[in-house]
Amino acid sequence: MLIRCLYASRASVPLHATVVGDILVQSHKNNPRLGVTGLLCYYNDVFMQVLEGGRDEVCELFNAIVRDSRHNNVRILVFEEISERRFGNWSMGQVNIAKVNPGLLLKYSEKPVPDPFGSSGHAMMALLNELVATASIVNRGV
Ligand SMILES: Cc1cc2nc3c(=O)[nH]c(=O)nc-3n(C[C@H](O)[C@H](O)[C@H](O)COP(=O)(O)O)c2cc1C
Repeated sequence: MLIRCLYASRASVPLHATVVGDILVQSHKNNPRLGVTGLLCYYNDVFMQVLEGGRDEVCELFNAIVRDSRHNNVRILVFEEISERRFGNWSMGQVNIAKVNPGLLLKYSEKPVPDPFGSSGHAMMALLNELVATASIVNRGV
């Protein structure tokens, strides 16, 4: 059974490239073994991550991620059973939201910078779907 989990959180450390880079190294190391795929978005002090895979694997990984001291205020935006993956090409793709076309961000947000804490989960999911469609996702490196 496949599930998809989208959450947002606040970085507890300044989001330098090395912080994101370290998280991505861990993701690329662990996620293929777990069969987990997804996308990590970041900007200012906000993370937004979608995880897809088996329910046990995604829940166990999510539990570990929640305990990570590099962020806090973890909020689940969407948790759903899915019949197919949407982010299956990425063991953990990445999107620096600062590099995304502001017009695309405004499509689903009140402000040019999305606020997942004050938005519906479905609007944020629609934004991530659009990032896939517009090939805004980087697979490796920061
Ligand atoms: C926002 C955020 C997203 C993360 N995403 C993942 C992930 O997709 N996969 C992963 O293995 N670790 C991820 N981590 C790191 C985990 O919290 C944890 O540090 C890591 O899984 C430990 O792996 P290790 O024992 O191999 O070092 C993330 C951490 C943060 C703060």
